[in-house]
Amino acid sequence: MQNHKSAVQRNQALAKKSGEFLIGGDLRVTRLGFGAMRITGDGIWGEPVGRAEAVRVLRRAVELGINFIDTADSYGPGVSEEIIAEALHPYPNGLVIATKGGYVRPGPNQWVENGKPEHLRSACEGSLRRLRLDRIDLYQLHRIDPKVPAEDQLGTLRDLQAQGKIKYIGLSEVSVRQIQHARTIVPIVSVQNRYSVTDRGSEDVLEYCEKEKMGFIPWFPLAAGRVSSSESPISRIAARWKASPSQLALAWLLARSPVILPIPGTSRVEHLEENVAAAELKVDGNKWQELDRMARAS
Ligand SMILES: NC(=O)c1ccc[n+]([C@@H]2O[C@H](COP(=O)([O-])OP(=O)(O)OC[C@H]3O[C@@H](n4cnc5c(N)ncnc54)[C@H](OP(=O)(O)O)[C@@H]3O)[C@@H](O)[C@H]2O)c1
Repeated sequence: MQNHKSAVQRNQALAKKSGEFLIGGDLRVTRLGFGAMRITGDGIWGEPVGRAEAVRVLRRAVELGINFIDTADSYGPGVSEEIIAEALHPYPNGLVIATKGGYVRPGPNQWVENGKPEHLRSACEGSLRRLRLDRIDLYQLHRIDPKVPAEDQLGTLRDLQAQGKIKYIGLSEVSVRQIQHARTIVPIVSVQNRYSVTDRGSEDVLEYCEKEKMGFIPWFPLAAGRVSSSESPISRIAARWKASPSQLALAWLLARSPVILPIPGTSRVEHLEENVAAAELKVDGNKWQELDRMARAS
């Protein structure tokens, strides 16, 4: 598996081996998706160093069977959505692009919540324009802005849904209590929280999503690349199991719950191919427990 090249060449629809999930009960996606935050410049700001490679990454992801791509208006800002459209429009049938609104970006590495209804409405229009879509399949509130009543933020998304601009609504970085409250205002189909084999702060939210059959989309599924560092416990056992640390981290997520939809991010085709090959890696009971114990102890 470490040498994933033959798996990638053998199987053009490799991502399908990760299984499927129905977002909102009807949008069929491969469980292993792609996160498009890393196809921007430093600090998630401006153009990527290699725009041509970013385009290749997206096209290769689709070739390998991925049909679930996560992005946000704030990645770049605008850059990630524009490159997705440049690389993939007209979109192949069944490709689900999830985007987000609710942040503004004063500069590199700066993220400021803005959940005002007028901002969310114009953010959604901007995403529709850049992605060249009439309707966004999954629109996620990037953060619930504490300065604005949640009712106003979610009510705005509910209006956009009623106008046909959004099909489904998701949340990001929320507690179980916030999800429950949001669901009294509008149907919620997915939650995107930080979670990985080495970062288990959202275990309660994952369990809630599993019980409610909502998609759980872990961001930083590779701990922002740290699973591959030489100090990582995952790196230590990966070599023994003939997998790469990233593959092991992704296979662990896929085995953890059927509602998990990992969206690893990369700016490089080589890493993409390595990550997609995790769809074939099975983490059986014993290995799963060893990995789990080691990650919890780290
Ligand atoms: N909802 C939220 O608030 C939120 C926050 C952050 C992210 N997200 C979403 O979650 C997605 C995933 O998060 P992420 O991209 O930040 O973190 P990640 O997937 O945990 O890790 C990405 C990092 O790992 C490196 N990497 C990827 N594959 C690798 C491999 N096989 N070997 C070694 N290094 C590898 C990448 O560098 P290279 O480019 O060099 O491969 C990149 O720096 C994002 O793309 C975005 O869509 C959401």
